[in-house]
Amino acid sequence: MNWIATVYTPANRFQRTALWTLAITFFLIFVGGLVRAAGAGLGCPDWPRCFGLWIPPIRPESLPPPYDPAEFNAIKTWLEYVNRLVGVAVGLFIVATFVGACRFVRSDRTVFGGATAALVLVLYQGWLGGQVVQSGLEGWMISLHMVVALLILNVLLFTAYRSQRDRLRVSFPAAIRRKALYVISGLVVISFVQIVLGSQIREALTHISSTYPELARGEWIEEVGLLDMIHRSYSWLVLGGAIWFYRIVKPLEQAHAVKDLARLNNSVIVVQILMGAGLAYLGLPPVLQIFHLLLAALMISVQFLALLMLAHAKVAS
Ligand code: HEM
Repeated sequence: MNWIATVYTPANRFQRTALWTLAITFFLIFVGGLVRAAGAGLGCPDWPRCFGLWIPPIRPESLPPPYDPAEFNAIKTWLEYVNRLVGVAVGLFIVATFVGACRFVRSDRTVFGGATAALVLVLYQGWLGGQVVQSGLEGWMISLHMVVALLILNVLLFTAYRSQRDRLRVSFPAAIRRKALYVISGLVVISFVQIVLGSQIREALTHISSTYPELARGEWIEEVGLLDMIHRSYSWLVLGGAIWFYRIVKPLEQAHAVKDLARLNNSVIVVQILMGAGLAYLGLPPVLQIFHLLLAALMISVQFLALLMLAHAKVAS
């Protein structure tokens, strides 16, 4: 996998910064999943401070008035607080990427545009995070927060790729390239719809758990009904699209990077379906909630990178 070695040996400081920014953004999605799985979204009841403090306490007796020490849970508070700290770190990395992109203003406006878009989106995301807390974790706001996180991830991916696209250029026969480009574009769209469907299930589960407190966790999923059926069945469409894409790029001798991405995409989707089944039949284990979300982010990023590579591929005869 020589292209992976190429990616990991960035040619300059900007590329290194952009790659680190991408990595820490993935980490933030992981920590966000932890917060959700632990039910720690309101671990800090206010925003931007936490219990009115910039650094929250460890013991309930250190809470300032008017907060009730009986409602304090140190683990949930610190999980949410660490989530916010990682969010700030992502913001700082994105600022660093933006500063680094300033030198591309003349040579490659698209790199600069990508870094600017990431900066605007992360500022919006910071504000939105505060609104999510103030809304008491309104379901559709959490979903919007997740969609913006995925958008930031892919805008960063685009910026990082664009700054080194000539080093990662693959070559494709024209007809195959066109077909592969259509299929991967369609796959990105249907995968995104699947992610939105998944977040609708998460919203429904939250609603069910608060409306029917007498139901055991393992029974919540039965109450979701049609939406759950659609999300499950739709997975076969996603898998079918991914296999189709792999079959198009598989016979090519060149373009190893795209083939590797197609293979990785297939594996991620299979694992994702197995984890979905685990969620549905094993009573929603929190660890699967975390990785189901993380792999959804990985899947869409892998597909988007394949799309970028194809869009920029050299046309071979
Ligand atoms: C390509 C395949 C799939 C993708 C990309 C996908 C994606 C997602 C996403 C993004 C979420 C929302 C997670 C969150 O907001 O925290 C979700 C939730 C969920 N998905 Fe899937 N999913 C897939 C397949 C499946 C399958 C096959 C099943 C069941 C058999 C399933 C069951 C669930 C359940 C139960 C939830 C709610 C989990 C929670 O409350 O955190 N998924 N899915």
